[in-house]
Amino acid sequence: MEASGSLVSAVESLSKAMPVSSVLMLDMLARTVDEICEGIHHPIGSIFRIPSQYLSNWGISITDENRKQIEKWSIESYQTEWEISTEATYDAIIEATRYAGFEKGNPELNDATGKMSVEILRKMAEADKTREFRLGDIGAGRGETTAALFDYMLLNNLVWLAERCRFRLVEPSFEALISANERLKTHGINEQHRIEFVPIANTTHEFLEEMQEGNFDLVYSSAVFHHMTFPSYLDTLHKGLGEDGVLVVGDWYTSLWKHPALVSEVLQKLGITDKKLALFHQLFDIKVGDMDELKKGMGSMECVTNELMVDYVVKIGHSFVKRDVNYDERLFFLEGHEAFGDRIGKMKNAGFTTELDELRDKHQGFVNMASNRNVLEPQNQAAIVFSCAKAGKKPKKNMVS
Ligand SMILES: C[S@@+](CC[C@H](N)C(=O)[O-])C[C@H]1O[C@@H](n2cnc3c(N)ncnc32)[C@H](O)[C@@H]1O
Repeated sequence: MEASGSLVSAVESLSKAMPVSSVLMLDMLARTVDEICEGIHHPIGSIFRIPSQYLSNWGISITDENRKQIEKWSIESYQTEWEISTEATYDAIIEATRYAGFEKGNPELNDATGKMSVEILRKMAEADKTREFRLGDIGAGRGETTAALFDYMLLNNLVWLAERCRFRLVEPSFEALISANERLKTHGINEQHRIEFVPIANTTHEFLEEMQEGNFDLVYSSAVFHHMTFPSYLDTLHKGLGEDGVLVVGDWYTSLWKHPALVSEVLQKLGITDKKLALFHQLFDIKVGDMDELKKGMGSMECVTNELMVDYVVKIGHSFVKRDVNYDERLFFLEGHEAFGDRIGKMKNAGFTTELDELRDKHQGFVNMASNRNVLEPQNQAAIVFSCAKAGKKPKKNMVS
C-alpha cells in the first residue's frame, strides 16, 4: 500500500512539532504510525504499548496532564489483544519461539518460575510449621504457571506444602480462566488431595486495588509484566504483599523498543515499502547510522538478545500468513519488554530488594539460596526468572519511571 497525500502531510507537521505532549497530537502521532505500518504481516499496534521510560525517544513527552490518557490507551490496546487472540494466535507464538532460535520458551519459563517459587515457600513453611500461605498467580492465562508449581510440588513430594497453600489465579480473559480451571482441577496433585485454587477474572490493577492491603505471602507471574507500560503495577503488587511477602517474576526482556531506529530494522524485515520506511524515518528524525550508533552503546548480550527478538517478531508475522490468521486477529508486535537492568531499577523504585545478600540475611525464604536469578539461556538475556521481597524502606521516586 502506498502513502497517501494526507499521510505525507501528517508526517511533515508532526515531525516539526516533536516532541509532542498534547492529547490531540499524541493521538495524531499514534494514528500516523499505524497508517505508516499498515499492511505489514505483523501489525505494530499502539506506540503507547512500549515501556514508559522509552517513550521520550519516540517523540513523546509525558506530563502530569497526559500520563493518565497514555496509560489508558496502552491498557486498551493490550485489552484488545486479549479479546482478539485465538488458538491460532497462541500456536503462531509457539511456532515462532521455536523457529527464532530461542532454545527455551514459555513452558521452561513457567517451570523455572514454579521451581523458584516453591523452593522459597518450602523454606518459609519449614521455618514456621503451622503457617498457611496465600498465593497469587498474576496473568494466570490458561493455568500454565500454577500447573508448573503443582508439577514441581508433586514431583518433589511436597504435596504437604500444597495443602498449606491457597491459590488465587488473576486473569482478565474469562476463556483462558475456564481452561485454567479445567487444567488444575484434573492435575495429578488433585487425584488424592484437594488443593484450593480460585480463578478470578480481573486485571492485576483492579483486583489488587480491591483487596485489603498486605494479603499475599507469595505472588508469582510468568510472561505477563511485559504487558505493562507504566510501573504503577509494581506499587499495586507491593501493597498487595504482606510484610515478608515474596514476588517471583519470570519474563522476557529486550531493549528493542527503546528507540524507533531499532524498530526500523523490524519494519524492513516485515516488508514495509521504501516510501513508508522513509516516512517512518522522517517522523522520528532517524538518520543513516543511528541504528549502528545505538548498537555500539549496547553490550554483546543485549545485541544478541535484540537480534533474537527481531527474528521472533518476523517469524510470528510469517506464521500468521502461513496459518491464514485474519489480519484483525493478529497480535501487535510493540510490547512492554525492557532491558533487564531497567526492570531491576523499577523493582527498586517500587520498594523491592533484589539483592541476594540482603534477602539471605533478612528473609527465611532465601536462607542459603545460591542465586535468586535464573537466566534460562546463558548466551542471551531474553528469558529470566528472579525473586525479590519488600525492602525495608520505600525510596522516593519520580512519577514517570
Ligand atoms: C503470555 S500470557 C502468560 C500466561 C501464563 N502466565 C503463562 O506463562 O503461560 C500473558 C497473560 O497475561 C494476562 N494479562 C495481561 N495484562 C494483564 C493484567 N493487567 N493483569 C492480569 N493479567 C494480565 C493476559 O491476559 C495473558 O493471559
